[in-house]
Amino acid sequence: MVERIERLITEIGAIKAVNLDEVEQLRLKYLSKKGLVSVLFDEFKTVPAEIKREVGQKLNGLKTSALQKIEQLKAEFEHEDNAGFAGGDLTRPSLKPLGARHPISVVRKQIIDIFARIGFTVAVGPEIEDDWHNFSALNFTPDHPARDMQDTFFIATNPDILLRTHTSSVQIRTMESSQPPIRMIFPGRVFRNEAISARAHCIFHQVEGLYIDKNVSFADLKQTLMYFAKEMFGENTEIRLRPSYFPFTEPSGEMDVSCNICGGAGCNICKYTGWVEILGCGMVDPNALENSGISSREYTGFAFGMGIERITMLKYQIKDLRLFFENDVRFLRQFTGAM
Ligand code: PHE
Repeated sequence: MVERIERLITEIGAIKAVNLDEVEQLRLKYLSKKGLVSVLFDEFKTVPAEIKREVGQKLNGLKTSALQKIEQLKAEFEHEDNAGFAGGDLTRPSLKPLGARHPISVVRKQIIDIFARIGFTVAVGPEIEDDWHNFSALNFTPDHPARDMQDTFFIATNPDILLRTHTSSVQIRTMESSQPPIRMIFPGRVFRNEAISARAHCIFHQVEGLYIDKNVSFADLKQTLMYFAKEMFGENTEIRLRPSYFPFTEPSGEMDVSCNICGGAGCNICKYTGWVEILGCGMVDPNALENSGISSREYTGFAFGMGIERITMLKYQIKDLRLFFENDVRFLRQFTGAM
């Protein structure tokens, strides 16, 4: 028996593995219930009393060295996985996921998924825009206050080139390059010259929606938005549309959802009204259609635009918008696992 133990000690000393799976196979071979080492322990019962002590010590030695060897092999591969040690494949993805998705990315994906289920596809446009796509084609008159330097960041001294102030610019780009039916959403970053506070930032994210076809009506818009609100905030969510004004939609509205925090009873998030505004919307103005090369006699459509920060704040009860941009890991870590 002593001989067999010694043979195993030598054998285990020399074992090698190429990955964690192989290490596990080796562990099973030697240390599982029916493994080679365990079998020797079973046989130990039959060893004559006078040599029990000697054999016992050797057997314990074997078990310790087997355990150590397996641990050492495991550590090698775990180390390789984390640090990508010299000689390993540095491009290999980590076995364990690192970090977490940013809450804005999480909610952007939720919005895209909700609209994908009713046939909306995704497109994007440039963040640096010209006056035509951001303003003129959207029916902004030359003296409209939203063109004011206060709101818009212009590139250098050229008043024609600017950072887009909304994703509505992508409506125009899409209509210029395609004919109806159009059923798309446009997520993106937008820029406004605003003082940074808990409620406003100079960079934020929007998702724009556009649906153009024959006979699209305000009822279609309302039904689409109601579907979205219920998917996003829960089946019991109610919506309310208030008249509003945008140069590129007529009629225009703003949509409120029942406050999902107090359930409509009144709290400081909804300012004790029971409602929170989440988006602007309306029927696409005939001028915007014609400016983009689509016949306003043949087609109608609706558009809407929402702020992702706003929706994320409501969903996760976040009270300060600046948290999204500071990348404080104590904030971001709370979204680990959110997809
Ligand atoms: N672009 C508008 C905004 O940023 C939102 C909007 C989009 C309104 C589409 C109507 C239609 O406030």
